[in-house]
Amino acid sequence: MTDVEREHPEETGDLQGDEGRPSDPGAPAEREHRPAQRGEERAVHAFRKVPRTGVIYVTAEAARLGFKPGVDEGAADGWCNLGQGQPETGPLPGAPERCSAVPIAGDDQEYAPVAGLWELREAVASLYNRAYRRGMPSRYTAENVAVSGGGRIALTRAAAALGQINLGHFLPDYTAYEELLDVFRLFSPIPILLEGERGYSFSVGDLRREILGRGLSAILASNPCNPTGKHVRGEELAAWVRTAKELDCALLLDEFYSHYVYGMGDVAPMESAARYVEEVDRDPVVIFDGLTKNWRYPGWRVTWTLGPREVIEAVASAGSFLDGGGSKPMQRAAAELLTIEHTRAETTAIHRAFSRKRELMLAGLRKIGVTIDVAPEGTFYVWGSVAELPPGLSDGHGFFRAALGERIIVVPGEFFDVNPGKRRAGRPSRFRHHVRFSFGPSEDVLVRALGRLERMVGERRRA
Ligand SMILES: Cc1ncc(COP(=O)(O)O)c(C=O)c1O
Repeated sequence: MTDVEREHPEETGDLQGDEGRPSDPGAPAEREHRPAQRGEERAVHAFRKVPRTGVIYVTAEAARLGFKPGVDEGAADGWCNLGQGQPETGPLPGAPERCSAVPIAGDDQEYAPVAGLWELREAVASLYNRAYRRGMPSRYTAENVAVSGGGRIALTRAAAALGQINLGHFLPDYTAYEELLDVFRLFSPIPILLEGERGYSFSVGDLRREILGRGLSAILASNPCNPTGKHVRGEELAAWVRTAKELDCALLLDEFYSHYVYGMGDVAPMESAARYVEEVDRDPVVIFDGLTKNWRYPGWRVTWTLGPREVIEAVASAGSFLDGGGSKPMQRAAAELLTIEHTRAETTAIHRAFSRKRELMLAGLRKIGVTIDVAPEGTFYVWGSVAELPPGLSDGHGFFRAALGERIIVVPGEFFDVNPGKRRAGRPSRFRHHVRFSFGPSEDVLVRALGRLERMVGERRRA
């Protein structure tokens, strides 16, 4: 998968084609990257073929069978989108009222600064200081924050600003990293394998060994991890931060799901590496987050990067040629959502609703025979293996196809086997038996989907 990953069905404008499907034959690196050759069927030969991401692919396949995002999803016989990469965005019990109008002030017609509105940068810094850094001498300021128009553009700015280094990334991880780690050619992406048998854990000893052994100057990871739900937290995360500092290896931590964490014993659990940073301008910790998941406003496209001032200057400079900055009215409105009170209230409601849905999904999937290497400690995904299901359902693509027949969308695990430059082309994925199930949709959609999956698997077992 290559383009920016569009995790959201609403974004899928062109719903044709299946480029980028991991099991597609061919697509060796040189075929993927070169322009079209004489005689090859492409109208404009200057462009390479840009593969689609997992979610765009599954949504396109569902659309061929009649799926229309947002339409009929509440109906008893409607589609159940367990492929979706967004949380439910409507009211949740106990949550602050949803914002339904955003004013456009006079000077909002002008550009916003590339690094973001100062008031929003201050609000972000203050939120991290209040949530994670009470009593600590070194505190974030607006100069430690760059705002951008979406998480992927924040990550893209950072990737564009990296030097000639080795950058470690994990397998599996967020699908959008694949192309992100390929298009900027200064740094070398180095894959690090995580093992289901070890519950996808990666100790601080592993971290030290990989940094020293492979000469890594930076590591990119989603934490909590999309898709496995693995979460490095507490003392372990503190040790990661200390090790990164000691070995001068930048930690690029994608914390987009950091308010969807389970088992931390708090009514409004939130975790961030910002809690363990000693000196905000010196420790090599760069954090990405935004309204997309943790405030349940993916459509606003308001996100941020938090880190040492020097890094923030670099990513803002990258933004000046990549995207020119985010939307001004949306940034102004976002500042109001970032008070600690609003954030805690929203997180409490998220935690209550998503903990219930997590239990429901785990129980339902286990009942039909999906093997779950590790119950999600974070995110709103369950990552499971279908290897033990009857023939036809026992690999990710087979399961996906069969589920489509029941008007259920899921994402085959192969898409998360991030493969920048398709350098591992032609070999079967370690995750070909895995599937990612989202519990982003509402509880009634999940109940309906689990009922249909149970019937589908039951019929195959009896056949
Ligand atoms: C791990 C991870 N990081 C970042 C994002 C950022 O998304 P966006 O570009 O939609 O803000 C997503 C969304 O799917 C994600 O799953």
